[in-house]
Amino acid sequence: MGNVTLTEGVHWVGAIDWNIRNFHGYSTRLGTSYNAYLVVDDKVTLIDTVKAPFYEVMVSRVKEIVSLDDIDYVVSNHVEMDHSGSLPMIMRDAKNARLITLEKFGEGGLRKTFHSDWPMDTVKEGSELDLGKRKIVFIPTPMLHWPDSMCSYLLEDKILFSMDAFGQHIASSLRFDDEVGIDAIMPEAAKYYANILMPFGDLIVRAVDKLSNLDIDMIAPSHGVIWRTHLDTITKAYTSWGKGESKNKALVIYDTMWGSTEKMAHAIAEGIMSEDIEVKLYNLTRSDHSDIITEVLDTKAILIGSPTLNNGIFPSVAGFLCYLKGLKPKGKLGAAFGSHGWAGGAVKAVEQELGQASIDVIDSGLAIRFVPDEEELQKCTDFGKTIAVRMRKDKED
Ligand code: FEO
Repeated sequence: MGNVTLTEGVHWVGAIDWNIRNFHGYSTRLGTSYNAYLVVDDKVTLIDTVKAPFYEVMVSRVKEIVSLDDIDYVVSNHVEMDHSGSLPMIMRDAKNARLITLEKFGEGGLRKTFHSDWPMDTVKEGSELDLGKRKIVFIPTPMLHWPDSMCSYLLEDKILFSMDAFGQHIASSLRFDDEVGIDAIMPEAAKYYANILMPFGDLIVRAVDKLSNLDIDMIAPSHGVIWRTHLDTITKAYTSWGKGESKNKALVIYDTMWGSTEKMAHAIAEGIMSEDIEVKLYNLTRSDHSDIITEVLDTKAILIGSPTLNNGIFPSVAGFLCYLKGLKPKGKLGAAFGSHGWAGGAVKAVEQELGQASIDVIDSGLAIRFVPDEEELQKCTDFGKTIAVRMRKDKED
C-alpha cells in the first residue's frame, strides 16, 4: 500500500480521502488526508488513527512494517472522529496495545465517545513515554482543536506530531511540503486555519511560542503534508493569524433579492477602490462560505449587505453572519448596508450581529429604499470612500 518513511523507524501509515468535498460544512475541493504515524523502536507506537471507513487502508500500511500484535501503544492525540474513528477496530485487533491519551479531557472524551473499557494510560504536560532508544514527550495544546488536543514530540528524531495544528485539507500522493510546493500549500493552510482554528488565536500564539522552545526538524500534522522544509513559514503564519494581523483590504459581502443591494455593493466597492484600497466582492448565493472566511483572515474591513426580508436579515446573509460570529475574527472593522421596500430592518440587525462578532462597526449603516438612483449610488460610493479613509487612518495610527 505504500507507507512513507519520515526518518528511520518512523512511518506515515495514514489514508488519503481523495473525494471528500465537505468537511462538516467546510468545502474541501482538494480532498484531505488522515495522517497516522508508526514509530518502530523496542516498543511500537501508532500515533493516531484514521476516519473509520479508512481503517483497512491504515492497517494494510502498518502490516507492511509490523504485525498488529507488535503494537504496544496507540496514542490518541485528539478525540475527534476523523482521527479516533478507527480506535474501536485497532484496539480490537492490536491485542497487546495500550491506549495513551491526555488526562481528563482525552480520557473523558474517548470514554464518552466510544463507551469502551480499553486499557488506557493518561499523560499530562511533559509526560514521557519510553520506547527504548527514543522517547515521546506529550505537550497539551488545548483548543488546537479541542480541549483534549495534544502534540506528541519524538525527542531524538525531533519530530512534532502536531495533530490538527499546521494541517491542511489536501489529498496528495506526495507527503512532504517541498514535494507539493509552498505556493500550493499555504492557501490551504490559511483556509484550514480560518475555518477551524480562528476562534483560538490567543491560545495559538501561546502554543506556537511554547513549541518554539523545542528543537524541531519536522512537523507532522494530522491532515495534509508534513513540514520538513518550510517550518518557519507555517509557524510564522500561525503567529500572524493568531494575532489577527491584517492587510489594508476590504470585503464587500452581500446577497440581493431584486438587484438593489447588489448595485449598492458594487458602488461601495468602487468607492473603496477609488481610494487605492484592495477590495473583494462576494455574493453569498454564488460563493462558498468557507472560501469567504479564508479571505476574512487577512482582511481589515468587512462590509455586509442584506436586503430586508420580513423586517430582518436575508437568510443567506444571516447564515453567513452566524458562521462568522462563531469564528470570532480579531481586529476587524465592519459596516452594514442594504436596500428595503416598504419597511427596513436588515441594516440595523446586521450591525448588531457584527457587534456580537466583536467587529468594530465604523459607520452608521447605509439603508436605501427600493432601487437606488444616481444620487443614492453616489452615496454608496462615498460610503465606500469613508470606510477606506478610516482603514487608512487606522493603519497609520
Ligand atoms: Fe482533524 Fe479536530 O480533527
